[in-house]
Amino acid sequence: MSIIEPNPLLSAPNGPLRVCEFTPTAAGKNNSFVLFSLVIPTYKERENIKNVVKILTQILNQSIPGEYELIVVDDNSPDRTWEVAQSLIPEFPHLRVMRRTQERGLSSAVVRGWQVARGQILGVIDGDLQHPPEVLLQLLRAVEEGADLAVASRHVDGGGVTTWSFIRRFLSRGAQVLGLVILPGVLGRVSDPMSGYFLVRRCAVAGALLSPVGYKILLEVLGRGNIREITEIGYVFCERQEGESKVTWKQYLEYIHHLLRLRFSTGHLAIFTQHMGFPIGRFIRFGLVGLSGVFVDMTVLYFLSEPHTLALPETLSKIIAGEVAIFNNFLWNDAWTFADVAMHQRGWHQRLKRFLKFNVICLVGLALNVVIFSLLRFIIPNRYIKNLIAIAITTIWNFWVNLKLSWRVTEVK
Ligand code: GDD
Ligand code: MN
Repeated sequence: MSIIEPNPLLSAPNGPLRVCEFTPTAAGKNNSFVLFSLVIPTYKERENIKNVVKILTQILNQSIPGEYELIVVDDNSPDRTWEVAQSLIPEFPHLRVMRRTQERGLSSAVVRGWQVARGQILGVIDGDLQHPPEVLLQLLRAVEEGADLAVASRHVDGGGVTTWSFIRRFLSRGAQVLGLVILPGVLGRVSDPMSGYFLVRRCAVAGALLSPVGYKILLEVLGRGNIREITEIGYVFCERQEGESKVTWKQYLEYIHHLLRLRFSTGHLAIFTQHMGFPIGRFIRFGLVGLSGVFVDMTVLYFLSEPHTLALPETLSKIIAGEVAIFNNFLWNDAWTFADVAMHQRGWHQRLKRFLKFNVICLVGLALNVVIFSLLRFIIPNRYIKNLIAIAITTIWNFWVNLKLSWRVTEVK
């Protein structure tokens, strides 16, 4: 005999982050479709969650009673926000709660919530009351009147922030300018691409494989969804009453990562990266690691060869410096560039094997570098241009051969 829990938690979907089309099977067992599903991502919002649910319910009951659902997606908060949310279900039967334990992150939480949603309009709002709930009705109306996407914006009439410091305003605007440079076709479509408060028609995102990193889910919706008409509604980003923001420097790095990923996987560049199978993200990481190797090489060379340091012979110093740099690059590539592959081949023996392959490939690369450099003498007179071309070709060689040999998945479980 099984005991049926009165208010079961939703189980978190796994697999690709893709919202399904609106089909009868998608509506779940009790096949109740609704007009609107609002996801509230939470992490450590114990103090806020009840208030948020209460206020949202009051507001939505005024205009679409019985036609909406609220979905809290909590990432297993240590303050047990999910448990508090779950305890609210008897009082708020349109509330559903998901506790995720396998994944983390604001953007993916939102998509997981949409994946279980039953509404034809999907939305997201922060769980800390910094997004004024009243604006919701205007957003809803905008979608009902034809918009595919309705975004609450701080940068249109009626919008703003309350007491943000100069630094935070500067960082926020800086992030936006950077985004406009990298992805003008995506960020240029709205005044506040950083907004985490918006509604989107299900059919505008259904079927798209979303791949968000970090905080900014709207970028993903704009970049990969099929969005034609957009409406923006001004709102003032309020102060937090309870709890604290989870934004750290990590989110800024994730944001840049997200921009680059979108840049290379959508639009013209996608032809190069996807259809030709070139792993551009890995290549960029590999290149950055290579740069770090140049610094290591130079530094070691300095400490070994300078007359006032160890004063070793120049060639010997250079060989050691080169080898230390190769070692440095291997560590970073193994832990970062190819981390996903290395994860499947743990253990010192495997790692040593990868290192030896990497080492040999890089040494061949070095020889190649010298050969190209001297061959170019017939075409290009300038030594530094020759060197640059030789380095570029060697980097591609090193990358490609290492990709195929050193970090190849060799053991099938
Ligand atoms: N499930 C889940 N997982 N929720 C999270 C996570 C996470 O890893 N990190 C944060 N959240 C939830 C928070 O609990 C909150 O409800 C919401 O996401 C926003 O997080 P905050 O940490 O409060 O963000 P903020 O207020 O500093 O930043 C906001 O800035 C933008 C404006 O610049 C973002 O929330 C955006 O939504 C907002 O538009
Ligand atoms: Mn907040």
